[in-house]
Amino acid sequence: MQTLTVELGERRYPIHIGAGLLDRADLIRPHLAQKRVAIVTNTTVGPLYLGRLTSALKNAGVEVLPIVLPDGEIYKNWETLNLIFDALLTHRAERKTTLIALGGGVIGDLTGFAAASYQRGVPFIQVPTTLLAQVDSSVGGKTGINHPLGKNMIGAFYQPRLVLADTTTLDTLPERELSAGLAEVIKYGLIRDRPFLDWLEANMDRLIARDTAALAYAIRHSCENKAEVVAADERESGSRALLNLGHTFGHAIEAGMGYGVWLHGEGVAAGTMLAADLSRRMGNISQADVDRVARLFKRAGLPTVAPNLGVEAYLNYMAVDKKVEAGRMRFVLLRTLGECYVAADVPAELLRQTLSEAVARG
Ligand code: NAD
Ligand code: GLY
Repeated sequence: MQTLTVELGERRYPIHIGAGLLDRADLIRPHLAQKRVAIVTNTTVGPLYLGRLTSALKNAGVEVLPIVLPDGEIYKNWETLNLIFDALLTHRAERKTTLIALGGGVIGDLTGFAAASYQRGVPFIQVPTTLLAQVDSSVGGKTGINHPLGKNMIGAFYQPRLVLADTTTLDTLPERELSAGLAEVIKYGLIRDRPFLDWLEANMDRLIARDTAALAYAIRHSCENKAEVVAADERESGSRALLNLGHTFGHAIEAGMGYGVWLHGEGVAAGTMLAADLSRRMGNISQADVDRVARLFKRAGLPTVAPNLGVEAYLNYMAVDKKVEAGRMRFVLLRTLGECYVAADVPAELLRQTLSEAVARG
């Protein structure tokens, strides 16, 4: 097992990464305020892993309330959030009852938001079971739900007490979901870690083949990057925005296509290609750099051509991006491969060129 820490003062918390951690109630028990938890999961992950986690906790004397939600990005909404509150109230969950998110980013984001708002805040633990959740969404405390007009538009910053990533859960992950997680892994290399980007280029075939050591290395390195960024700027007043490379475009793709049609990681990959194209038009990187990024996404099994939503639809969805300030769009752009910055001065003409060329191809 490897352990990292998200350094947030009195709210600092550990990330444990390793094989078989679902059975390690001893790692969870010290973080519980009472011997009672609610485990929130879904109809796919529940049958696979709820039994194991529940038995481990029961053997440690912890009472478990299971809450099983429907599976899918389309359910990351108010109605599903309310199912969590219904169960918590029906079973008289208290302020000291810990919510445990067992699943991917959808379950993590929903459960975290429920924990932030139930009785104005109850303790919360992340047990991520997708690659995307193990390298990104379980760390950093962004929680929330989608709105038809904008992705992740309703939510709260609310940190977990613990992240427990059992790498063996990735054995059952569908290929397409593994690829989606790799989009966020590649993101860390592109935004701030050139040696990691080089490592990914050298080791992508091992990752796709689910080589255990390669996956463990990638998860650890990704969490280290994420933990450093979050510790420096928890509420995204500055540098945390870099974690959103490709997301302004990607969120437009997800909302525009209908939630769940394109996976989050797929939207991020195609969105990053749009950000790379815009970075080239701004004079930062060469076409050869853009092609190099595309090759890496392709090897990871990810799309590199954005769908044709129409230029105006892209612009409308992007206008509600969380980085918009005083009505002005801001973009995370590549300065070079391995370094990004937030640009508030992108000429509208260049953005239109990027979008119109993309929709002509998509
Ligand atoms: P997801 O939660 O929908 O999980 C993907 C699919 O895999 C689902 O069908 C799920 O049931 C299934 N699954 C999960 N674990 C499994 C396993 N071990 N074996 C078999 N199937 C399994 O998707 P995701 O990619 O994990 O997360 C995407 C979500 O995360 C998006 O909503 C995105 O906005 C959010 N996100 C949040 C943050 C954050 O910082 N909070 C960061 C990145 C993404
Ligand atoms: N996934 C973006 C962030 O956590 O800030």
